[in-house]
Order: sequence, then C-alpha cells, then structure tokens
Amino acid sequence: MTGKIYIVGIGPGSSEYLTKKAIDTVEMSDYTVGSIRAIELFDSVQNKIAFNVKDLLDKLEEGVELAVGGKTVSVLSTGDPGFSGVLNTVLRLSDEKNFPKENIEVIPGISSLQLAAAKCHIQWDNANVMTFHGRENIEEILPVINNGKITIALPSRKVKDMAQFLLDNGVEANRKVVVCERLSYPDEKIVEATLNDIANSEFTYMCIIVIYP
Ligand SMILES: C[S@@+](CC[C@H](N)C(=O)[O-])C[C@H]1O[C@@H](n2cnc3c(N)ncnc32)[C@H](O)[C@@H]1O
Repeated sequence: MTGKIYIVGIGPGSSEYLTKKAIDTVEMSDYTVGSIRAIELFDSVQNKIAFNVKDLLDKLEEGVELAVGGKTVSVLSTGDPGFSGVLNTVLRLSDEKNFPKENIEVIPGISSLQLAAAKCHIQWDNANVMTFHGRENIEEILPVINNGKITIALPSRKVKDMAQFLLDNGVEANRKVVVCERLSYPDEKIVEATLNDIANSEFTYMCIIVIYP
C-alpha cells in the first residue's frame, strides 16, 4: 500500500504563524521530517526525523522511502514550501522512487517574505519578488532594481555582500533599504538604513531585504 506525503509550510518561525491545518496534519502523520527549529514548533510529533544542512537530502529521501512503504509522512518546510522551500526537492525524490504525485499534498505556510511585506506595509503584488537563497543568480536583480518598484528578496549569502554587489553595480548609496531579521522571533529586528550603511552592517543569515526605488 502506498502512503502519503504532506509537504507542510510552518511559517516564519513563531508558533503564532503556524496554521491549524499544519498542526492537524503533523499530528496525524506517522513520521515527521524537518529541521530542528521546525520540529520544535509542534507539541506532539511521532517519530521525528531531524535534518541539518548537511544531511537534508538523506533525511528527505528517508521520508520518501517511508511513504513508499505505506507510511504517512509530513515534511516540514519553513515559510511556504513553494518559495525557496523543499517542494521541488521532495517532488524530484518522489518521482525518482515512482511515488505517485496524487499522494503528495502541499500545505501552504506564511512565507517570511509575506511577513516582511506586512511589517513594511507593502502591497507586494506590485513588488519585484526575488530569491537568491542557495543560488548563484544575484545578477538577476540588476535588470529590475531600477524599474521603479520595491524589491523584496531572500538574500544570497550575507546581506552586506548583496548590498556591496549593488553598490559595485552602480545602485545609489543612499537608496532606502529595510532588513527584516529573524521575523516573528522574540529577537526580531527591523533595520531601516541606506544601502551604504547595510553594506557595512552585520546580520544573521535569517533576513529578508527590502530595497526601495
Ligand atoms: C530555505 S529559505 C526558506 C524560505 C521559506 N520557504 C519562506 O517561504 O520563507 C531560508 C531563508 O528564508 C529567510 N527566512 C526564513 N525565515 C525567516 C525569518 N523568520 N525571518 C527572516 N528571514 C527568514 C532567510 O533569508 C533564510 O535564509
């Protein structure tokens, strides 16, 4: 008997942004695969399979194998699974193991990008929404950075390096930038500064950058 895979968005980090659907899904699953910070959000989790950056693929594969064997498996993804999340990776691994797509359900979550837009009062349907997370595509920002719209992005590597890249490519040093760090956590920080100031500031990797026109 084939099992079921739920790819569950858990929101930006605080349990306040966890949906009831996410909680119910995890509670009825036989196994839950996720990062430690994701798994910790749930009070009752059966058979935790925690991953870190290094063993992420192995653990996701283990989850898919369990589903192939008939188990119900929740795979947790921070924010929304479809925005720089694990959605495509789980789909690829499932496909490789001939696990039927109709037995995979995606439970959306509140993306960190959505929360950043809300914090900055931005109607984001008219923004440049971009992700550079885990990619080497930073130059894709250059054709849009001067198109008159707000740019909201998951940065590549360090925020300061991204700011420096923009300065090196002729973006004005006094552009308004807001960095939203560790959104929804007790130590959440929202910093408004110029592009030049951001290029000289340190942030953790958990940031959204908002660049104004
Ligand atoms: C693997 S991506 C996951 C994105 C996620 N799927 C989403 O929709 O928010 C991880 C990156 O998302 C951003 N991120 C995730 N949680 C965040 C938070 N609570 N505050 C700020 N940025 C966050 C950071 O840029 C982090 O490096």
